[in-house]
Amino acid sequence: MGVGTIPGPQRSRVTRSRPHRPTFAVVAATRPNFMKVGPVIQALRADADIEFIHTGQHYDSQMSATFFEELGLPEPDVNLDVGSGPHGWQTGAVMAALERRLIERPVDALLVPGDVNSTLAAALTAAKLGIPVAHIEAGLRSADWSMPEEINRVLTDRLSTWLFTTVEDAEGDLLAEGIERNRIHFVGNTMIDTLLAHLEQARGVAEHTMSRLGVGAGYSLLTLHRPSNVDGERLQGLLDAVGELAMETPFVFPVHPRTAHQLSARGIRIPEGVTTTEPLSYLPFLGLMDRARLVLTDSGGIQEETSVLGVPCLTLRENTERPVTCELGTNTLVGVDPDRIIAEGRARLGHPTSPAVIPLWDGKAGERIAGALLDDFS
Ligand code: UD1
Repeated sequence: MGVGTIPGPQRSRVTRSRPHRPTFAVVAATRPNFMKVGPVIQALRADADIEFIHTGQHYDSQMSATFFEELGLPEPDVNLDVGSGPHGWQTGAVMAALERRLIERPVDALLVPGDVNSTLAAALTAAKLGIPVAHIEAGLRSADWSMPEEINRVLTDRLSTWLFTTVEDAEGDLLAEGIERNRIHFVGNTMIDTLLAHLEQARGVAEHTMSRLGVGAGYSLLTLHRPSNVDGERLQGLLDAVGELAMETPFVFPVHPRTAHQLSARGIRIPEGVTTTEPLSYLPFLGLMDRARLVLTDSGGIQEETSVLGVPCLTLRENTERPVTCELGTNTLVGVDPDRIIAEGRARLGHPTSPAVIPLWDGKAGERIAGALLDDFS
């Protein structure tokens, strides 16, 4: 019967004081986090006080500030201004700054999304202060321990009192790790809540973005930012493969800062037919993705978003923590071999797909999370 159940932080610890109106710290750090916390903040606002904390892991306006405006998020109450750095340093810097803040302004629980370094740092800080943690987007697993995100996911889940999962299958994986069933809540996907709420607006700006970038109908989209893809020799081969596909469909390539740095450091030439741009903010990117013929990516969230939009997606990685997007969605895991990418890309260009229906990806995940938390504090 596997490893058996490992006792973890339980809800009984939080119901002791039974506050009338709870205070929740919501911690966000990087571009994809903002779309994940927005619906939860929205759903909690009326019945709880929110302390919104930005760690500052992403700090360029195109990676952070414009997202707040477009998503209608409140300004953070505090920005810890941590910025970029090596993993240990970045994690430690978030912990030191967040600990000070949580001691100055105690909260009843801390909510944190995703799998970035700030996610683990926030969960660890709160757990050590005896503050219960709620993990938004719990239970995803790639089984690839060379990914910093996998380490962050597993440890954040271990430290969390509430594990809010996006897919049904996550429960089995978490039970196998020894997590107690009563900590696991299958609620759906808050990133998809944000997508569904903003899709019409995004469609409204698509034409403008296309004309600004000089592309017409029939274009495809490329994003790359994983260190394993962009920090070494592999980047050149991946772009060569995209160059081959660009003979059949022009590509738009919004370049992540990490990737931009590598392109210039290595003197890599962008292939013909590929239009680069600075990172796009949420609405222009969503509008562009919705109309794309094909998306090539190594992002996690884009595998989910393309599935819901019904746009074919090729994921340039050897594994995914989001297998539901391959089983029910439009995603294909193609690895990083250039010949395979070209062959799969050509095959997918000829086969339109339709939007996936994934259980509970219905725009109401934020409400379910708020409901579960508020029940425990009523
Ligand atoms: C981080 C997350 C990754 C997530 C990604 C989304 C970790 C381990 N990784 O990766 O899971 O998918 O965010 O984008 O937490 N930079 C800027 N401006 C910014 C942010 C970063 O120029 O606003 C530069 C930094 O100087 C650094 C590089 O981008 O050189 C990497 O930034 P960092 O936040 O450490 O990691 P990401 O690659 O963005």
